[in-house]
Amino acid sequence: MDDRDLLQAALKARQFARAPYSGFSVGAALLCKSGRVYTGCNIESSSFGLSLCAERTALAKALSEGESEFDRLAVVAEGSAPVKPCGACLQLLWDYAPGLMLVLGNLDDQSERTSLARLLPSPFSGSDLPGGVKRPV
Ligand code: THU
Repeated sequence: MDDRDLLQAALKARQFARAPYSGFSVGAALLCKSGRVYTGCNIESSSFGLSLCAERTALAKALSEGESEFDRLAVVAEGSAPVKPCGACLQLLWDYAPGLMLVLGNLDDQSERTSLARLLPSPFSGSDLPGGVKRPV
C-alpha cells in the first residue's frame, strides 16, 4: 500500500469523526507490518479532556487486535498545511511504534512525509521509569 492509498483510507475514516465541539474532523490510517490497516477518527466528549484523537483511535484499534509492529500512519485534516499529531499522540505512538513513518495530508492534496522520531526527537520513554519497563511492549 503506497502513501496515496493510506491517505485515502485516512480521508475515508475522517467522515466518521465525532467533532461537535471543535468542528475539526481528523482521519487516520495505520498500516501494520502484517499488511493490515486500522483507521480512526477523532471522537470528542462533552467533558472535553476525554476526547480521543484520530491517531490514538487507530492505534488502540490495532493494538487491541494484537498488532505489535507498525509501518506508517497517515493523518488527514483540513488546513492550509498538513496537520501534525498532537503531543499526546506522539507520546503514545512513541511508546508502541517508535520507528513509525508519518504521512500527513490536508484536503487540498498536499502531503508530507516525516517520521515520529523527527517530530519527537527527545522523548520520555518507559526506560526513564525507575526499574524500567516491567514487561515488553
Ligand atoms: N485532533 C486529532 O484528532 N488529531 C490531531 O492530530 C490533532 C487534533 C483532534 C482532537 C480534537 O477532537 C480536535 O482535533 C481539535 O483539537
